[in-house]
Amino acid sequence: MSKLDNTFGQQTVSQNERSNKIRRVFQLVAPRYDLMNDFMSFGTHRIWKHFFVNFIPFSSNDIIVDLAGGTGDIARKLVKKGAHVIVVDPSIEMMQAGEKTNLRQVINVAGIGERLPFADSSIDKLTISFGIRNMTSMSDALKEIHRVLKPGGQYYCLEFSQPMMPIRPFYNLYNQYVIPRLGALVAGQPEAYQYLIESIKRFPHQEEMKSLIEEAGFSEVTYRNLFFGIACIHIGTNKS
Ligand SMILES: C[S@@+](CC[C@H](N)C(=O)[O-])C[C@H]1O[C@@H](n2cnc3c(N)ncnc32)[C@H](O)[C@@H]1O
Repeated sequence: MSKLDNTFGQQTVSQNERSNKIRRVFQLVAPRYDLMNDFMSFGTHRIWKHFFVNFIPFSSNDIIVDLAGGTGDIARKLVKKGAHVIVVDPSIEMMQAGEKTNLRQVINVAGIGERLPFADSSIDKLTISFGIRNMTSMSDALKEIHRVLKPGGQYYCLEFSQPMMPIRPFYNLYNQYVIPRLGALVAGQPEAYQYLIESIKRFPHQEEMKSLIEEAGFSEVTYRNLFFGIACIHIGTNKS
């Protein structure tokens, strides 16, 4: 179990409670989610996502699942490159918020990472961007992702991580003081953004995350830091 699985912000909660509270957060932030991302990251999330999508090799027949796909940012970019993409997310509100800009080829499916609505060994690639820390149980979700990937199939995860030392204190201060205020100002939801910051703070760092992915059965697990480790891409292959 990861150190996030039974927490919501600073509270200890049951997994059921955690999952309900997380749903509520995304229901609240959905209408302003994309705008807030631009404010909070000074637009850098776009660069990370662009890099992430270009990092993923795929062939035109591949089926890619974008888990926790939310408003469809990653899916749209992948579709523009010729991929077939299915977004899986429990938040109808997040998926609806993205529908205005979504391309016809993006298929939205309501579902959760801990119980994916796919047969064993049926998916070529699974991407997840800023979503894995919201799973009720990260290890269950990783095992489930492993189950649905075909042998040779790959998992690509973009997530916040542990920044390197010279910038870490500034980054922590920014997260602690600026983000909740921006959340209040732009999205009118300071508590929701407080949760997002707590979940980033408690998230396993690069090496811990690598171990969790390996424990779920993945091989050849590697990672690549972005922006001095503020964000990180983890990659794992299903070799079974
Ligand atoms: C921070 S948003 C990321 C959205 C998008 N992938 C991006 O990069 O902008 C996290 C998403 O995770 C979804 N989520 C929360 N719990 C989930 C779960 N158990 N399984 C799958 N997705 C979940 C939320 O509904 C939300 O859309």
